Amino acid sequence: MSASNESKGESTGKQPKILIPEIKLQARVAELALEIANDYQDREITAVCVLKGSFVFFTDIIRRLNLPLTTEFLGVSSYGNKMVSSGEVKVTLDINEPLENKHVLVFEDIVDTGLTLSYITNLLRTRKPASLRTCALLMKPESLKTQVEPDYLGFKIGNEFVVGYGIDHAGKHRGLPYVGYIEHDH
Ligand code: IMP
Repeated sequence: MSASNESKGESTGKQPKILIPEIKLQARVAELALEIANDYQDREITAVCVLKGSFVFFTDIIRRLNLPLTTEFLGVSSYGNKMVSSGEVKVTLDINEPLENKHVLVFEDIVDTGLTLSYITNLLRTRKPASLRTCALLMKPESLKTQVEPDYLGFKIGNEFVVGYGIDHAGKHRGLPYVGYIEHDH
């Protein structure tokens, strides 16, 4: 097997099936960027990338955002290697810059139970930003366990476990250019 096939996950057994193709992702990311730039006008934002799963979405969207911005990275871990949310959120990398009086916009890959995004917004609110909004690429409305509504949302999806476009399963498949789904083992 070639190195490139291996990096796309063929070595891990099941190959993910396409749920949202690359072209649709890119079109929606461009729409979201326009919507956000329109809402913020020329206000400077602090764009927060929630690691690790949002890094591809984040780098795509900030390059399309016609706004003055600074970037920050917040590492959180909630799933470990499992396919269901543990509900426990651990900060693995904190933001060291003060957020006071900043317009903070958090970019998250996927809202499943909503516990992670809710934890993050509660955490960042304590830092007294001038405003705090959230943008999620994907959301599974049927899985929500807490009242969370991203201010900007790419796509609503069903309960399938998804990978690709930065999103992983046990660290794999992040490099896929599309959002795919893999079947549960059990
Ligand atoms: P929540 O706290 O249950 O909303 O989960 C949010 C986090 O769980 C996301 O940031 C992802 O890292 C991870 N996650 C949720 N659903 C999936 C999925 O279908 N595939 C991979 N990771 C997921």
